Amino acid sequence: MEQYIIRGGNPLAGEVEISGAKNAALGILAAAIMTDDTVLIENLPDVRDINVLLEAMESIGVRVERITRHAVMMNSENIGEVSVDYDYIKRIRASYYLIGALLGKYKKAEVPLPGGCNIGSRPIDLHIKGFRALGAKVDIRNGFIVAQADHLRGSHIFLDTVSVGATINIMMAASMAEGYTIIENCAREPHVVDVANFLNSMGANIKGAGTDVIRIRGVQKLHRTEYSVIPDQIEAGTFMFAAAATKGDITVKNVIPKHLEATTAKLLEIGCEVEEFDNAVRVVASKRLCSTNVKTLPYPGYPTDMQPQIGVALALAKGTSIVTESIFENRFKYMDELTRMGAVVRVEGNTAIITGVEKLSGARVSAPDLRAGAALVIAGLAADGITTIDDIVYIQRGYELFDEKLRSLGAEIEMVHSEKEAQKFRLRCG
Ligand code: UD1
Repeated sequence: MEQYIIRGGNPLAGEVEISGAKNAALGILAAAIMTDDTVLIENLPDVRDINVLLEAMESIGVRVERITRHAVMMNSENIGEVSVDYDYIKRIRASYYLIGALLGKYKKAEVPLPGGCNIGSRPIDLHIKGFRALGAKVDIRNGFIVAQADHLRGSHIFLDTVSVGATINIMMAASMAEGYTIIENCAREPHVVDVANFLNSMGANIKGAGTDVIRIRGVQKLHRTEYSVIPDQIEAGTFMFAAAATKGDITVKNVIPKHLEATTAKLLEIGCEVEEFDNAVRVVASKRLCSTNVKTLPYPGYPTDMQPQIGVALALAKGTSIVTESIFENRFKYMDELTRMGAVVRVEGNTAIITGVEKLSGARVSAPDLRAGAALVIAGLAADGITTIDDIVYIQRGYELFDEKLRSLGAEIEMVHSEKEAQKFRLRCG
């Protein structure tokens, strides 16, 4: 039983260092198997999703050597299997990136079909459509996606929906297809660009990543590289909202401020001061937040992965706010938990109407998924009294040393493993 226990009420203040981007690293690690040379990847976040993907890769014969906590050397010349075990895909959906990588390199991949997850049904029809357009035969057999091709051939692919996963997966396979591929209506997220830059550093020829049309000239072989993953914009945004909700003053360091523009714009709208530096952003909240409306959209719109964090801030803002979730259908589960902490919320379909209250009060709540879990931590930090958060395994999927980083900002938060430890915390913190 691991839980976070929090005594809220302290304004968070100080500086915090942001880790490498989990979602970029997942794509980059998968892409790294596309060369037989040894690859060095730095600035990896030490979080559960990354560690599970590394295990999945080792299980098919990739040699992984951890140089430091945040760097690995990988060699994939002895991959013996193009079939990934269900156990891994169950624990981390993004192991589906191994389909694009294996298909590109070996023209064959067998990966279990990922199911839905806590935030929605999450189909992968667009990934499959892309692989088929490149000439692969793709079947669903016994719960596996089995993709194979004699030759992959460049193609003109139009994505019906803007999808980060499909863009990255198709981009990987097309990098080693014969000829020219154009992918239209691509996702423009910073991690799409980071995976493209990584592939290019291995000798791929990808142009246009970061725009909605990506053009790829396939190459036969990829080669060694050394690469450092970009900073995590969602981790950064989470700390920015922690400053807002606790009336704090936090400088998030090691970030690319451009990637945070949508988050920064909303923080300004709700009354925070935001100061941008070359690779840091400072958020100061000196007065009560005010309400606003927000709709999640693909990048450069407001990210769905930052929806629960702004939801918590708006639960404390003066006035009524409307939050519209347009990417995933089931991303308001945390609102029930927030209501138990005193928030006033009505959820209607993909819209949440939030009437801000002056104060939340501590309660025992459960993390429904990764980002919502982090948002509930913010709620606990802002609330009066003690909050206990169950199911923190979700939070550990994507936040490195979350409690430690928060403590360095003055938060009273601890990870406890038993009721006895929780009791000790309560006695100590009153
Ligand atoms: C990625 C991120 C996730 C983020 C999401 C949206 C990773 C590992 N995860 O997830 O944190 O919340 O982007 O920014 O990077 N869709 C289809 N068919 C498909 C694929 C997607 O209909 O084949 C739909 C989805 O149901 C969803 C929308 O497209 O409504 C966007 O999903 P997508 O961008 O693919 O999300 P992921 O790549 O899974």
